[in-house]
Amino acid sequence: MTKPFLPDQFIAANVRDIPRSGIRDFFDIVQGMADVISLGVGEPDFVTPWHIREAAIYALERGRTTYTSNLGLLKLREALAVHLAEKFHVRYHPKTQILIAVGVSEAMDIAFRAVVNPGDEVIYHEPCYVSYSPSIAMTHGIPVPVSCRPEDGFAVRAEAIERALTPKSKVLVLNFPTNPTGGTMTRAELLKIAELVKHHNLLVITDEIYSELTFEGEHVSIAALPGMVERTVFLHGFSKAYAMTGFRIGYACGPAEIIEAMMKIHQYSMLCASIISQEAALEAIQSGEPDTTEMREQYKLRRNFIVKALNEMGLTCHLPRGSFYAFPCIQSTGLGSKEFAVKLLEEEKVACVPGGAFGPTGEGFLRCCFATSLEQIEVAMERMGRFVRRLKG
Ligand SMILES: Cc1ncc(COP(=O)(O)O)c(C=O)c1O
Repeated sequence: MTKPFLPDQFIAANVRDIPRSGIRDFFDIVQGMADVISLGVGEPDFVTPWHIREAAIYALERGRTTYTSNLGLLKLREALAVHLAEKFHVRYHPKTQILIAVGVSEAMDIAFRAVVNPGDEVIYHEPCYVSYSPSIAMTHGIPVPVSCRPEDGFAVRAEAIERALTPKSKVLVLNFPTNPTGGTMTRAELLKIAELVKHHNLLVITDEIYSELTFEGEHVSIAALPGMVERTVFLHGFSKAYAMTGFRIGYACGPAEIIEAMMKIHQYSMLCASIISQEAALEAIQSGEPDTTEMREQYKLRRNFIVKALNEMGLTCHLPRGSFYAFPCIQSTGLGSKEFAVKLLEEEKVACVPGGAFGPTGEGFLRCCFATSLEQIEVAMERMGRFVRRLKG
């Protein structure tokens, strides 16, 4: 007799155990509600600058519709090598040490898949971007979170990393400025972490996607510190700095052997990133800096406004020195972060992401994305202030 087909039984155990992204679930509720102001999805409200869109259109006009090399267009890798040396003080060989990927998302996934063996421990700081823990679990690695605290400006302390180390530790993931906290790192603290990494022979994967959105202080990549470029996989992309989320374009740089390993996975799963997006990315890297500067100025004005408004309504909020997220503490209201977010949406039609979506240490906080117009943020803060006043009675 034929057995009944139960699709659930065919799902791999490590995938079945992965929770869905809390952000997506929440925004399924937001869809279809009228008059909602969304401080939710982490996406620039700016349209990709026109000259970058034009480069994509021009690529199509010239019939640039083919595959590219698996590593990506050489002219884009060459331009990136120049850009990274100038802006990040890191040197990569365009032919062997740079791979163009489908966003930092793909770059991160293939980096984990290239280096993590089952049972290897991957340390990362939390609260963090929703994909880290599931991506590590998908490689059968062990996610090891290290908490960051508001009193440290959500920077990660070398001592906290040291406490998490075991003989199985292999990789350290860093993301500064951080999604969702806006935390940044000083050179001094990064130097301490670099020493630890070298001493314990770890590999660093650094997600630099918000680097250009640093509002004050210098942005330092750990890859630029002495002895680190050879033990770091540097990931970056175009989504945030150039408002190019829909182009799905990012890149990975690192030791040639690791890039080669990542290329093998990319080659068999993705083949290459879209040539049209690669042409647009080339225009962005060569001529997009004024656009980034302009957008950063706008984000900074919005940041100053939203952080002040949140603190004034009694939700303690540290000053995010980078990214486009404010991460206020909502514990004084007595509600959990999900309950707070759902009630705020239902009662005042403002959508924010519950901090718990970014890992257990995010509980008690709320992520408010300020990549939306100042006018919208002003109305959102009025509504939220009214909501908090009602809660606090
Ligand atoms: C920290 C971080 N890394 C990676 C990504 C994904 O970026 P991409 O659009 O390049 O795939 C995001 C998107 O929100 C992010 O916040």
